[in-house]
Amino acid sequence: MNGAELLRASLASTRADPARDSGAFAWHEDGALLICDGRIVASGEFSEVRRAAPESPVTDWRGGLLLPGFVDTHIHFPQLRIIGALGRTLLDWLEQSALPEEIRMADVSYAADTARRFVQALASHGTTTAMVFGAHFPDATAALFEAAGAACLRIVSGLVVSDRALPLELHQTVEQAYRDSTGLIKRFHEAGRTLYAATPRFAFSTSEAMLEMCQTLVREHPTIRVQSHINENQAEIAGVRDAFPWARDYLAVYERYSLTGRHAVLAHNVHTTDAELDRLAASRTTIAHCPASNAALGSGIFPLRRHLDAGVHVALGTDVGGGTGFSMIKEALCAHLMQRVGPSPFVLDTPRMLYLATLAGAQALSLDSEIGSFCPGKAADLVYLRPPEDGPLAAVLERASGPEDVLGAVFTLAGSESVREVRVGGTRVYAA
Ligand code: GUN
Ligand code: ZN
Repeated sequence: MNGAELLRASLASTRADPARDSGAFAWHEDGALLICDGRIVASGEFSEVRRAAPESPVTDWRGGLLLPGFVDTHIHFPQLRIIGALGRTLLDWLEQSALPEEIRMADVSYAADTARRFVQALASHGTTTAMVFGAHFPDATAALFEAAGAACLRIVSGLVVSDRALPLELHQTVEQAYRDSTGLIKRFHEAGRTLYAATPRFAFSTSEAMLEMCQTLVREHPTIRVQSHINENQAEIAGVRDAFPWARDYLAVYERYSLTGRHAVLAHNVHTTDAELDRLAASRTTIAHCPASNAALGSGIFPLRRHLDAGVHVALGTDVGGGTGFSMIKEALCAHLMQRVGPSPFVLDTPRMLYLATLAGAQALSLDSEIGSFCPGKAADLVYLRPPEDGPLAAVLERASGPEDVLGAVFTLAGSESVREVRVGGTRVYAA
């Protein structure tokens, strides 16, 4: 097989949701991934994959772990520099920390520098695909798309639109927002690895006319995605109730403008009702669960059990800068820890942590035929993890036997220093 490469390492991935399919989790202690022309040709035990490609060169990564590239379904690029503004709750934090920085994105060179560092941080943490809130300014949002293109990452993003309740510098008219969004869709939607998402910041900051404009964008460009926030904080929810008195609940505002469904990802949903959960499941809307942010902003403990029991599709997001960093490994650990101490505690096992950080996100973005696992035919998006030799993770792994031990240790201890190489569609996007 001309141009093929065999990567030899331990392999872990999920072919489906392990909660629904007991055979979904795949583990190969001495595993291999055969890749050719940026695609996965075969994955499995090294000895078997080797038989299919006896001549192909082998990259010997034994002692390390290969995972599918992480998919972060909720993150804000303009908030890179305000990570760590601790101690406030959502509306206060927006006013004091996040929105003043978002106003600075009017300066396109500042925005471009932020975008470049942002995509670098995604890659160096093993995130190969992300759904990203752009800026309120079209040039800054274009800078993100361009930085993502230069870094070869898969990015779904869009111009953030708002016309109420924010500092005036962040307001657009509906007409301007429509023109700017349409221009960005033409430039960046389905161009290379980038996709567009209509991005009303949240119902709290949008008029009905602005939400209707987002509905129009989706009607005119049916393959774009939608992203927003929902039910994060009680003061926010009260504000939405006041602004949309006809709506039976928060979700009903987005439903009224066709902003729910398979194409939509709504972040948080901490304070939700059973009726909303039923409708989220029926419309197959994704909730981006952002546990670190939920803790940092004091938003509350996400009712994951209720979401899963209702059949709502859930994926994982870091929510930088409300969240605490770019690591999807740490985010999965936070999800695990928060559920241990939640009102109905349960153990989120490691195959499900891996699923939430990879395939669940791919499914949220309708990219699961292309990425999210090591199934043959998919793009070779991968993270190669190998801890520094003298560190605690290496010590734990020396004793580990089996995937539970290995993944438990990795999710608990692996930081960005353990990320050795990251590839997207076979292209190296980061090497330590
Ligand atoms: N709701 C509206 N905007 C934001 C934001 O930037 N971060 C979070 N966590 N929630 C929001
Ligand atoms: Zn957010």
